[in-house]
Amino acid sequence: MEGELFLLSSVIFLLPVACGCPERCHCHSPSNAVDCSRQGLAEIPSDLPPQTLTLHLQDNQIHQLPTAAFKSVPQLTTLNLYNNSLSNLTPGVFHGLQHLRVLNLTQNSLHFLESRLFHSLPQLRELDLSSNNISHLPASLGEPWENLTVLAIQQNRLRQLDRALLESMPRMKRLFLKDNLWKCNCHLLSLKLWLETFVYKGGITDSVICVSPDTWKGKDLLEIPHELYHPCPFPSLHLQSSQVPQGAAPRAVPRLSNSHSTGERDHRECEVKPKPRPANLRHAVATTVITGVVCGVVCLMMLAAAIYGCTYAAITAQYHGGRLAQANKPTKTEGKELSDSSLA
Ligand SMILES: *[C@@H]1O[C@H](CO)[C@@H](O)[C@H](O)[C@H]1NC(C)=O
Ligand SMILES: *[C@@H]1O[C@H](CO)[C@@H](O)[C@H](O)[C@H]1NC(C)=O
Ligand SMILES: *[C@@H]1O[C@H](CO)[C@@H](O)[C@H](O)[C@H]1NC(C)=O
Ligand SMILES: *[C@@H]1O[C@H](CO)[C@@H](O)[C@H](O)[C@H]1NC(C)=O
Repeated sequence: MEGELFLLSSVIFLLPVACGCPERCHCHSPSNAVDCSRQGLAEIPSDLPPQTLTLHLQDNQIHQLPTAAFKSVPQLTTLNLYNNSLSNLTPGVFHGLQHLRVLNLTQNSLHFLESRLFHSLPQLRELDLSSNNISHLPASLGEPWENLTVLAIQQNRLRQLDRALLESMPRMKRLFLKDNLWKCNCHLLSLKLWLETFVYKGGITDSVICVSPDTWKGKDLLEIPHELYHPCPFPSLHLQSSQVPQGAAPRAVPRLSNSHSTGERDHRECEVKPKPRPANLRHAVATTVITGVVCGVVCLMMLAAAIYGCTYAAITAQYHGGRLAQANKPTKTEGKELSDSSLA
């Protein structure tokens, strides 16, 4: 026991000297871990060993990270930025971290994430964004997210979540969503449906407790009966985003812009929504009207033609009748004359 303690203390005291460890950090050579936690750091140390695999920067006061902040440690697999003061992340901040598997950003002050922010992290498996101030997540955060299995976004200010984002993470195993400002209107139906499939397939999640509208406040999204979502534009949500019919998109967009209106109003909007049928009906009515008009015109023309034909026939018959009565008497030459005049 004493020997182990001695070994440990000698490792702790000798290593910083041995491998050029940053001044306020502890470096553990065998595991290539660098611990710079609780040092009151305002920025990341500049002289990190290039072979670093794990970097602990938690419990500091880092406000800002420059573009490609970790380019000196390209082998990094775990980066812990828990409990810092980051309020935004520069695009390209994680550039070059091809091997990063775990990124912990919990307990910062992030309120916004750039689309494709994690684009340069193809190996990412665990992303912790919990306990921030995020009110919106873009539809795409990273291009290849095939390896992401853990996503924690609990304790933020999210009202809704884009289904496209969830669909970009097919290997998701654990998803943490609780303690957000979930607004359980039509927009959240896609999340509900996605979660039902996710849980059915064995995925682990916590609860999505509605904060608004008032009718569903405090209720778990997964426990709201499907019937109550019937007024929502259902069909487009059952399909993959690529299969959504073109006509369905414009109907969904205007309601998105209403996300800051009161819950009650939104709930009403949810119910009083144009159904797809009237458009078809209007189309059908137009077709009927046009057909009717065309038929009417044709009928009128036929009638006119018939009247004209009958009148003409009657007049001709009358004329012929007169001529025939006369022709009964005259000679052959006059008959020839008649046929000549009728030809003229
Ligand atoms: C966060 O870090 C500060 C030091 O920057 C520390 O005083 C505080 O206890 C930490 N908070 C938690 C919850 O660990
Ligand atoms: C989050 O935002 C709210 C208001 O938008 C603010 O009161 C709160 O201090 C913020 N929290 C953090 C951790 O920045
Ligand atoms: C996912 O991880 C595997 C194994 O580490 C790796 O081979 C693959 O390239 C990763 N996926 C992407 C999109 O990088
Ligand atoms: C991030 O760090 C916090 C605090 O240490 C921890 O509770 C959490 O599990 C970590 N998240 C991940 C994904 O490792």
